[in-house]
Amino acid sequence: MQYAKILGTGSYLPANRVSNDDLAKKIDTSDEWITTRTGIKFRHLADDNEKTSDLAVAAARNALASANLPAEELDLIIVATSTPDMIFPSTATIVQQKLGIGSSGCPAFDVQAVCAGFMYAITTANAYIRSGMAKNVLVIGAETFSRILDWNDRTTCVLFGDGAGAVVLGASDEPGIIHSKLQADGDYLDLLKTPGQVVNGQVWGTPFLTMDGPGVFKFAVKMLSKVADEVITEAGYTAGQIDWLVPHQANKRIIESTAKHLGLSMEKVVLTVQEHGNTSAASIPLALDSGIRSGQISRGQHLLLEGIGGGFAWGAVLLKY
Ligand code: UT7
Repeated sequence: MQYAKILGTGSYLPANRVSNDDLAKKIDTSDEWITTRTGIKFRHLADDNEKTSDLAVAAARNALASANLPAEELDLIIVATSTPDMIFPSTATIVQQKLGIGSSGCPAFDVQAVCAGFMYAITTANAYIRSGMAKNVLVIGAETFSRILDWNDRTTCVLFGDGAGAVVLGASDEPGIIHSKLQADGDYLDLLKTPGQVVNGQVWGTPFLTMDGPGVFKFAVKMLSKVADEVITEAGYTAGQIDWLVPHQANKRIIESTAKHLGLSMEKVVLTVQEHGNTSAASIPLALDSGIRSGQISRGQHLLLEGIGGGFAWGAVLLKY
């Protein structure tokens, strides 16, 4: 049975970089409040002509180039997003078309698990490779959350941003993804949601993200520590063997709490939340790509990826890079 190994990574952030001070000119907030509560300093916002698929394609091209793999050799595309270009078709098929490989016929689909989306997508890709159903898989997390934010609601709009990250996985005799675990608990769906829908041409409900921030904070701290422990233990590893924690980038305090629980110093954590805020499904591959391109992460090291978001849905992946 072959492993799913990371062949290459890529990412993309829109050019428009907005600071906390920029936001404080428009709403009642401050750099001091946002920095101390979340660690966020900047977020990037897509311009009116940029769609989620455009961000996804830019990240995908970077990942394919770093994997040295022609797009024609992909045999599966999975896009994790909660902000698709349209109701249908999937953003993954739009990405396939924009990469110019529609005629390859490779399957392409979206997964929607909000901020846990990349965990769900990479775990699905791993299952395809482990079962022999695919050899080269493009896994993307891409979001334009700026379009589902109420920009007058300071409790949510300062937290999120737009971006995309991508990973090319290839079948390999060498590990690879070692173990992964996904979980969900729909009883907590009211903590974080964007409850609107389009019906007969009209929006029903609110089209904006709503969140019980402190409720999410408590749940996230608890479940991320638990799933991290479970993935490490079930794989027969110890936390001391983890070279890098690559967490979902929502809040620096949540990340610090998971690292502390695992006994990892912050020197072993890839932290990018200050640069792009919470980009939902894009945040883990954005952090991963940053860690690799900056030279922090090296080949042969063990990484623990983990994320949690609306649903509630969460998961963790242990891999050898
Ligand atoms: O991927 C999962 C997605 N979400 C998350 O990970 C978010 C998890 N939750 C959090 O990160 C934190 O709960 C927040 C950063 C959202 C909020 O931090 P908090 O320490 O839980 O603050 P709070 O919601 O309890 O609000 C404290 C105060 C309130 O004022 P009062 O009622 O004490 O007078 C808020 O009105 O801070 C106020 N506040 C703000 N002040 C300045 C809320 N938002 C802002 C703001 N600027 N942007």
